[in-house]
Order: sequence, then C-alpha cells, then structure tokens
Amino acid sequence: MSGSRLLGTGSALPAQVVTNDDLAARVDTSDEWIIERTGIRQRYIAGEGETTATLATAAARAALADAGVDASSIGLIVLATATPDNTFPATATKVQAALGCNGGVAFDVAAVCSGFLYALATADSLLRTGMAKRALVIGAETFSRILDWEDRTTCVLFGDGAGAVVLEAPEAGASDDPSGPGIIATRLHADGAQHDLLYVDGGPSTTQTVGHVRMKGREVFRHAVVNLADVLQEVIEEAGVSVSDVDWVVPHQANARILDATARKLGIAPEKVIVTVHEHANTSAASVPLALDVARKDGRIKSGDLVMLEAMGGGFTWGASLIRL
Ligand code: COA
Repeated sequence: MSGSRLLGTGSALPAQVVTNDDLAARVDTSDEWIIERTGIRQRYIAGEGETTATLATAAARAALADAGVDASSIGLIVLATATPDNTFPATATKVQAALGCNGGVAFDVAAVCSGFLYALATADSLLRTGMAKRALVIGAETFSRILDWEDRTTCVLFGDGAGAVVLEAPEAGASDDPSGPGIIATRLHADGAQHDLLYVDGGPSTTQTVGHVRMKGREVFRHAVVNLADVLQEVIEEAGVSVSDVDWVVPHQANARILDATARKLGIAPEKVIVTVHEHANTSAASVPLALDVARKDGRIKSGDLVMLEAMGGGFTWGASLIRL
C-alpha cells in the first residue's frame, strides 16, 4: 500500500540575519573561508522571544494554510528537534496548545540533523495504523543556543529555523503504484559507535547542563558522503525507480561540498538538487522541510514530482524518503 500524502508545507525563520562578516568580528574566521569550505553566506539566529516552539508553531500554521486544512483536523504532531524549549514536556505539546488542537498525539523525536526523516517515517507509520487521519510533521531548531560561540570550527556552520508538512493517511485500499501521490519508500539507519564524532557535551543526566556542540568535521564529512549515497541507493532500489526518475533531491543542508559530492557519487544532475545552505546554514532537523518549502513556494517542486528527501546527523543517524507529491 502506498504511504501518507503530503498536503502542504510551511517554514519560519527568525528575524535576525547574521552574515559571515558579522561572525568574523567575533571569532578568527573570514567570509572567504566559510564560503569556500561550506557555501554558507549567512544564517538566521533566534532573538529574544523566539524559541524552537514559536518557530515550529509559525511553520505549522504556514503548512496548514498551504494545505487548506484546519488545525482541528490534526490528530498527530511529531516534532524533530535537538534543541527543545525544555527538557520536558515535548515541544510538540507546546505547538499543539498554540494551535488549539489538544487531545491527539504529540511528541518529539531526537535524531539531530536526520530528525525530520525519522519524524516523517514515524508519522507515516502511525497514520497507516489509523492512529490519526492527519499529522503535522515538524523540524524545528534553535541550534544557536547550543553552540560554543568561541569555537570557530562549529559556530560558523549552524543557524535557526523551522519547517513543517501536513500529512494525510493513505486511503483504504490505495494501490502501491509509484505514479500516485504519497510516501513511496523510506529507509532509516543509526550507528551509535560514531557518537564521539558529533555530539553535545552536556545533558540532564550527565552534567545537568545543556552543553555545546562538538564535532570532528573532517571525519563527519567523510562518513556523510558514504552513508547518504548508500541510503539513497537503497531507497531507489526499494521503490523500483531509477536515479533519472527522481525530479528533485532535497538534502539536509549541512555543507554545499557534501551536497555536491553525494550527487556526483550517484550521478544526480546538480540542477536537481535543492540548495539553501548559503542562506540558512545548517538548521539541523529543520533543514529538509525548510528547503522543501522554499522550492515548492518558488515553483520548482510541483505536484506530481518525484522528490527524494535525505539527511545525516549526530548519532550517527541517517535516512532517506522518496515521495510523489
Ligand atoms: N575559519 C577559519 N579557519 C578555520 C575555521 C573557520 N571557521 N574552522 C576551522 N578552521 C581551520 C582549522 O583550524 C584548520 O587549521 P589548521 O590547518 O591550521 O589546523 C583548517 O581551517 C582546516 O580545518 P579542517 O577542519 O581540516 O577543514 P575542512 O576542510 O575539513 O573544513 C568543515 C571544515 C567543518 C567545513 C568540514 O570538515 C565539514 O563541512 N564537515 C562536515 C561538517 C558537517 O556538515 N556537520 C554536520 C553534519 S550534520
């Protein structure tokens, strides 16, 4: 049976833009270095009163408006984040309260930069069981609040933001014809042995602090290209399509060089890859739905297109999902 259908997308960014030159005034870096190594030109950083929940709620409202459905029809909210407003309750429950659709299911998933792929697969699975008819799947982050602003190797890479999609359960008896709308195939992976390459050095049960992002960038880069190429190939085989059938790839926006290297490895034409990293930097779990929303709203991604979503993040975790819009 084919999977849940995507009815609409939305996104939200903080008001404040921080350029590479702004960062060069704080740490020993330069616009040239950041652009050459990452493609990033600027990022949005949350200010006072902006939190993961406020960004998530704004993205969710935009997705509901795009889908043309009311919040009261949402029975499930799955929110991916590594930067929740509070240790508990889940930020998803704050979004639920803000939208006024209390009573359904609402929880967060933690898979860092792959979080949206994990959330999408979880929501799709629950919708298929009949747990709810419609879901909001959200990726939202305020990574700026877990960055070490003295560490030039990490603080230049990340930004804040949120993206959301509205999903609807597949109709009973829907065929698995990949030309029909819906999630066609998804694959998720994790490798906990790679913890030390990308992690946060704090947490409630270890240090009782929030901690800061720590990363061995060069090694993360190497694993990312291999893992992403492998999982994309798996999903393509599972779906029974070929690489050339895919209209658009919407990757996690970590680094323009990772996007280029992964596309080259699989023979995907660069013009089919949606790139927003230059504007948003790495917004972790928000980056895939944010890029998807940008490319739908600017008219590139259209109804009927075959779209591949993919991401890799701390854990390591990684995954990909093929969707017919
Ligand atoms: N500005 C200027 N110089 C910097 C710098 C910065 N912001 N950050 C690091 N450097 C320096 C390093 O100190 C090093 O100097 P040295 O040679 O004197 O020791 C030099 O630049 C090269 O550092 P290196 O880490 O080898 O660079 P790199 O080419 O691997 O690029 C990343 C660094 C982080 C951009 C790259 O490794 C990367 O993108 N990795 C993947 C990270 C990622 O996407 N993580 C999230 C995944 S979800």
